[in-house]
Amino acid sequence: MAQAWLADFPRVTNGRVVAVGSRSTDRAAAFAVAHGIPRAHGSYAALVADPEVDAVYVATPHPQHVDVALAAIAAGKAVLVEKAFTSSVSDTERIVEAARAAGVFAMEAMWTRFLPGVTWIRELVAEGAIGQVRGVQGDLTAFRDYDPADRLFDPALGGGAVLDLGVYVMSFAHMWLGTPDVVRAVGGRYPSGVEGEFAVLWGYRDGRSATLSGAFTAYGPGRMAILGTRGWIDVHPRFHRAAEVTLWRAKVPETRRFEAGYHLETIHVGECLAAGLTESPVMPLVDTLAVQRLMAQALDQIA
Ligand SMILES: NC(=O)c1ccc[n+]([C@@H]2O[C@H](COP(=O)([O-])OP(=O)(O)OC[C@H]3O[C@@H](n4cnc5c(N)ncnc54)[C@H](OP(=O)(O)O)[C@@H]3O)[C@@H](O)[C@H]2O)c1
Repeated sequence: MAQAWLADFPRVTNGRVVAVGSRSTDRAAAFAVAHGIPRAHGSYAALVADPEVDAVYVATPHPQHVDVALAAIAAGKAVLVEKAFTSSVSDTERIVEAARAAGVFAMEAMWTRFLPGVTWIRELVAEGAIGQVRGVQGDLTAFRDYDPADRLFDPALGGGAVLDLGVYVMSFAHMWLGTPDVVRAVGGRYPSGVEGEFAVLWGYRDGRSATLSGAFTAYGPGRMAILGTRGWIDVHPRFHRAAEVTLWRAKVPETRRFEAGYHLETIHVGECLAAGLTESPVMPLVDTLAVQRLMAQALDQIA
């Protein structure tokens, strides 16, 4: 993922990549050469101690986010932490508490929130284009052959469809509906113990709902719909890129196409730092915490 993120970095206008860190000096050096990065550090501790570094992008597997993020925060460096933010609610709480106590910027790299397609949806919902939002329906499904050696299937590396795919559908639905009053989840697990598929039903006391699913065990479209009292919005596959969005108002469609990319979340971090913010207004830590709790609630129910 670090390579994919870097591939979009040339479009970042308010920051530079000055260093890379790895658990291995050789891998750090090879990565630095391959990507034209000035300095390579053979440990994450050395990376966060680098005085030239203002912000650290954490792209390790999920359970390994917390130690790097806490070390960076302790060194006064801002952190952009890949989704899912951590592999447990308690680890998310530790990062949030540390960042707030130190007054250091921290944000989950939920890049979908920064895409112009999602910005358009936010505007449509705010201006009442689909009336009151009553429900969200969608999936993110990505077939993968079962391989217990792959991080996606390894519990020690935070594998499982909920942390990898569920975070997208839940973070998206949470944007429009907030935290549900009821969570129901079903799913199935691989022999390694991690879940390969899940379906989640969220309920709200006022009758609103979300139906969300994801899987490594099947192929699927990866689409999303936001249902309202005056219309609905389709976010076409794959919805987490939000490259094509249709507004259906009075059954009349209006489709728009948008760019996608990881540079938009990175530019946002630079803007927050320049403005002296310690949290993003678009991806606030309170939302990261809420979604992490909702993922944990779902995981608890998957037999
Ligand atoms: N935003 C997106 O579209 C997107 C897409 C894919 C993945 N992701 C996220 O990006 C993060 C990394 O995913 P990935 O697929 O890039 O993971 P990965 O290739 O398995 O691991 C990334 C790097 O983490 C480092 N690492 C640190 N501790 C490790 C450990 N105990 N075991 C294995 N590696 C360790 C390794 O680098 P060194 O050995 O050099 O230290 C490794 O190369 C995850 O949070 C994932 O969900 C995001």
